[in-house]
Amino acid sequence: MYNLVYKSIANSLTTAQVDEILKESRDFNDKHDITGCLIYHDGFFVQYLEGDAEIVLALFEKIRVDIRHYEVILLSQGNIYSREFDTWSMAYLSDKLPNEAFQYIKLMVSPEFEIPDMSVIPNPTSKRFWLAAKNLLNKIGHDNFN
Ligand SMILES: Cc1cc2nc3c(=O)[nH]c(=O)nc-3n(C[C@H](O)[C@H](O)[C@H](O)COP(=O)(O)O)c2cc1C
Repeated sequence: MYNLVYKSIANSLTTAQVDEILKESRDFNDKHDITGCLIYHDGFFVQYLEGDAEIVLALFEKIRVDIRHYEVILLSQGNIYSREFDTWSMAYLSDKLPNEAFQYIKLMVSPEFEIPDMSVIPNPTSKRFWLAAKNLLNKIGHDNFN
């Protein structure tokens, strides 16, 4: 099992365009046993992908050249023992969530981009960051995560 985290800047997308990305992603990921989480905040994406290494890396090559975003930067990659998002073909967290719910994720994402030295706050390369994202998703419930 392999995982990969990257960040990128969205190319001014409408809600419909983001929904289309999610639909495409979930269709493909379902069929190829890929799971993960996509965070869309303040015009940037952070995505966590997990699955078979070859499939994850091939998918990342496709995602990397997708014109719907740019400045795709790989933050971390490596082998993992088990999945974090085993029940999500692609979980989604965005500003559309009730503010209080997203506040926590926002707090953790922002320093990574603005104050790289603030290592006290878990950033998207840490397991703690994605555990917090998962807790948030569990709190909101599956029906409501899009
Ligand atoms: C931010 C972002 C995240 C994406 N995540 C996935 C994903 O998890 N799975 C997927 O199949 N496609 C994802 N895509 C779409 C791919 O870039 C690509 O459009 C898709 O794999 C279809 O490529 P193809 O038409 O060459 O097969 C994502 C695109 C963007 C912009």
